[in-house]
Amino acid sequence: MRLRGTMEIGSQGHLFIGGCDTVDLARRYGTPLYIIDEEHLRARCRRYREAFARADNAEVIYAGKAFLTTAICRVIEEEGLSLDVASGGELHTALRAGFPPSRIYFHGNNKSPAEIRMALEAGIHRFMVDNLYELELISRATQATGRKAHICLRLTPGIEAHTHKYIMTGQIDSKFGFPIETGQALEGVRQALASPGIELHGLHCHIGSQIFETAPFAAAARAVLEFARVAYQATGWVPEEINLGGGLGVYYVEGDTPPSIEDYANTIIEAVSETASELGMKVPRILVEPGRSIVSPAGTTLYTVGAVKEIRGVRTYVTVDGGMGDNLRPALYQARYEAAIANKMHDLPACTVTIAGKYCESGDILVWDAGLPLPEPGDILAIPCTGAYNYAMAMNYNRFPRPAVITVYRGQPDVIVMRESYEDLIRNDVIPARLQREETRSRAVRA
Ligand code: LLP
Repeated sequence: MRLRGTMEIGSQGHLFIGGCDTVDLARRYGTPLYIIDEEHLRARCRRYREAFARADNAEVIYAGKAFLTTAICRVIEEEGLSLDVASGGELHTALRAGFPPSRIYFHGNNKSPAEIRMALEAGIHRFMVDNLYELELISRATQATGRKAHICLRLTPGIEAHTHKYIMTGQIDSKFGFPIETGQALEGVRQALASPGIELHGLHCHIGSQIFETAPFAAAARAVLEFARVAYQATGWVPEEINLGGGLGVYYVEGDTPPSIEDYANTIIEAVSETASELGMKVPRILVEPGRSIVSPAGTTLYTVGAVKEIRGVRTYVTVDGGMGDNLRPALYQARYEAAIANKMHDLPACTVTIAGKYCESGDILVWDAGLPLPEPGDILAIPCTGAYNYAMAMNYNRFPRPAVITVYRGQPDVIVMRESYEDLIRNDVIPARLQREETRSRAVRA
């Protein structure tokens, strides 16, 4: 396993993160446990800001869908990043954390009238508009509330980046955005300009996630600017800003070769300025929305090893106390991860095993064929690079409670999300009167 961020190996062969012994953390907080290396998270935010500082007035917007809690909002705010929210729930999280609405960008391909109203009333900075129907809903909401909506249009630029098809979004056959080719994007610009309560500031595109090449980002920038010129010729409107979404990949396993944040930034900055000058346009402000590449490497999940089942001549399953409920990515995208035994970091690999979860699905495998020191029940297994789209996509299949999340920072652990309890699992359950028995009725009265 490659060490990331503040990870180090202590004298007893224990994995340390943020100056804390992970074996102690597992004992103290229980497992499964998500750990966020706050120093590393902050460092990634800073690298992004510095890499884009070369461009005039660029803005880095953290994509909250990767991992958002109220404490994370505080860290993102302190590091000077803006925030992309994709739902009323993410917006609520940000507002409750006191995140400045003037730095919130609101995404989503089917925002409800209630979500639109909530965002307008909160005074968010931008609606990232996905389609003509949403434009209509926003226009109506501005009339009802008397508030102006500041928007960008999300375009589908017709760019295919090489990534898993479930996380590809820039191609023409996509549920996201206004397709340029069909004329819908131009229609969007026309309608936005004609709506009195709406101010159109810019254009957006997001071509996909976990991308290992820089060329598709340059191609996307070019496609958006070429569209901007077409829109200018048709309407006289000029975008102040172009937002190129997220998508930069990260290293999960050997063979993964993501570009650096700096290479990614330079490619985008150059593509935008070159294309703008070629097309005779003013260089717009550049915005990006990274999620995974900021938070993924800062996260590690700890598990306790349970049954070790050797099927002679076939494979050995090492079962842990979590699985697809806390990390859906292997089951959903065939995602691959490294693993280590946090209490045996000095031991050499001695076997090849498959790490299985405890959910009732054969597909609940976290890592196929991991080379590890001999695992035994009670060992603490660490899977790194689980900061993005892990807790964010966690669920309660089989009614397993979702794990706690802690930050570690300069030797100090802090809980930022409490472990769910069995009581939390039934909190919203209701037994209708016709199904109630005497004892539940009297319990309900007491409550
Ligand atoms: N902006 C928009 C409009 C997006 O849709 C996304 C991600 C991002 C930014 C952030 O992209 P990132 O930098 O994280 O690649 N659950 C999948 C990933 C889904 C990505 C959804 N959109 C996974 O676990 O791989």
